This record gives sequence, structure tokens and C-alpha cells, in this order.
Amino acid sequence: MSPQDELKRAVARAAVPFVPAHAVIGVGTGSTVDCFIDALGEAGVQLAGAVSSSERSTAKLRALGVPILDCNDVDSLPVYIDGADEIDPGFSMIKGGGAALTREKIVAAISTTFVCIADASKRVPVLGRFPLPVEVIPMARRQVMRQLAELGGEPVWREGVLTDNGNLIIDVRGLTIDDPRATEARINQIAGVVTNGLFAARGADVLLLGTADGVQRLDRP
Ligand code: A5P
Repeated sequence: MSPQDELKRAVARAAVPFVPAHAVIGVGTGSTVDCFIDALGEAGVQLAGAVSSSERSTAKLRALGVPILDCNDVDSLPVYIDGADEIDPGFSMIKGGGAALTREKIVAAISTTFVCIADASKRVPVLGRFPLPVEVIPMARRQVMRQLAELGGEPVWREGVLTDNGNLIIDVRGLTIDDPRATEARINQIAGVVTNGLFAARGADVLLLGTADGVQRLDRP
């Protein structure tokens, strides 16, 4: 196992105490969340259920015997556990490397506490080195890419990938995102964009950061 995988496992285990007993929780997507689901199983946590952000996480949770609830049957969730591709000092994030950004944003929106689990490589001073994923309705691909280029980025179609919602992903390279809230809102205004992978209007509340010196807990400034 690589040192980065060890850090993912460590932060995943550190997130387990944030899960209230017999609760319904929100579960994100990605390799770090896969470790978190494994950690839930190892710790023998009994959940009333989960609202999942992807088919990938749903399959893993079901294998553990966790009931999966429809988001429309839930008003709020006490906690949402998810990874990130980048997280900045204000706890805004880029997410969507695994193409699950839209469902992740929906589940995060009904959650009281967003716990981000990430290895130290994800912490950055300014967002944008990781290409920003944008979920796009297929018929709008060309015109959305043109408008993203006008904003100063280099849009690249993630060919061969369809989201769980049947849409496309455009990755935008070369952005320096000094004002994540403004950029999130601006890109979401483009017709044909479902949402983009900036989580700034609803960022993380707690960051569990895996470092060589152990897991650090940081709270939103
Ligand atoms: C999934 O679409 C993403 O938002 C993930 O949360 C993010 O890519 C982090 O994934 P890893 O835990 O695999 O790095």
C-alpha cells in the first residue's frame, strides 16, 4: 500500500467517531470514502441508513448491509463524509474527480456538518491546479466549452465518461480560483451546466487531514 493510501485509511478511520449511533448519514464518493465505508464495517457501526452520492458508494454500502435512502425521503442529515480533490484555507473545495459532484452537492446541501477527509496533498493555498470538473447536459457540450474558454480556462471533454445522471464532464484546466464563491456562481449560470465542482457556497465544516505526523483536525476558519 502506498504512503498516500495509508493516509487515506487513517483519515477514514478518524471520521468514524463523527457518525452518531443509529443515524442516517450522507456518504460521498471516491477512494478515500471507500476507505471510510470499510472503516465503518471494521468498527461495526450500526447505521439506520445512508443517503449516497453515487452508484459506486451505494454498492459498497449495500454490501455492508446499510439501507440506502432516497434523498427525497430525508429532510436533513447530521453529517456528510466526503473527500476532496483540493481544499483551500477557507475550506472551499474542488470536487468531482470521480464525476459524482452533482449528487455530492445535493447531499452536502441537506447535511448539518460536512466532514472532509483528505490526505495532505489535497491542501492547497489557492484552488485550480486540479482541473475543475463541470457536469454538462450532453446537447450543450460545445457551447459550454466555448463559454468556459471565454472565462480563461482550457476546457477538456472527459470523453467516455457519463455521470450517474447521464451527463458529460468537462474538466477546466488553467484556472486560478481566487474567489471560489464567485467562480462557482458564474459557471453555474451557463445554460447547460448542471453544476460545477466548486464547493464554496457550501464548503467543509471540519477537515480531517492525513499527514505524515498523524491525522490533524481543523475546523472551518
Ligand atoms: C468524486 O466525484 C469526488 O468529488 C471525490 O470526492 C474526490 O475526487 C476525492 O476522491 P479521492 O478520495 O479518490 O481522492
